Amino acid sequence: MIPEIEQLLNDQITYEAKASAQYLSMASWADTNGYNGVAEFFYMQSEEERLHMTKLVKFINERSGVAIIPAVDKPRNDFDSLIELFEIFLESEEFVTAKINNIIHECLTLKDYNVHNFMQWYVSEQLEEEATARTLLDKLKIIGDDKSGHYLFDRDINTFQATEQA
Ligand code: FEO
Repeated sequence: MIPEIEQLLNDQITYEAKASAQYLSMASWADTNGYNGVAEFFYMQSEEERLHMTKLVKFINERSGVAIIPAVDKPRNDFDSLIELFEIFLESEEFVTAKINNIIHECLTLKDYNVHNFMQWYVSEQLEEEATARTLLDKLKIIGDDKSGHYLFDRDINTFQATEQA
């Protein structure tokens, strides 16, 4: 594996690990603040990020590289509001997308078409996750400070998911 690409993939492992830890922390906050639906949503997102990380670990190792498992800083664990959770979610996904786009760019520059092909799965995954984050944030912006709106959002969030992915 081209060393520069291996380094970028290892960096990506760190970003996925950070996202997984951040979403787990957001799930936990939601759980302790009465938002059980939102908690469930972020527990699932956290699991997904862990899968994204593991997929990279296996890929690097299968291609005779060496995957490095990173230490992850303590994520943020206190939040002002439901809307802040989803702002962080969208920012995090946009950040990850930018990093994936950079890997794609480097693959093309260095002519690593194998990794380029592997990364297409991440490109599609990011499109979906960013769309989900944007849709949910838009809904919360409409709801504003309305407490009963928050109650309904929390009750229905995992239904929006099912509908959007169908
Ligand atoms: Fe794996 Fe949502 O970035």
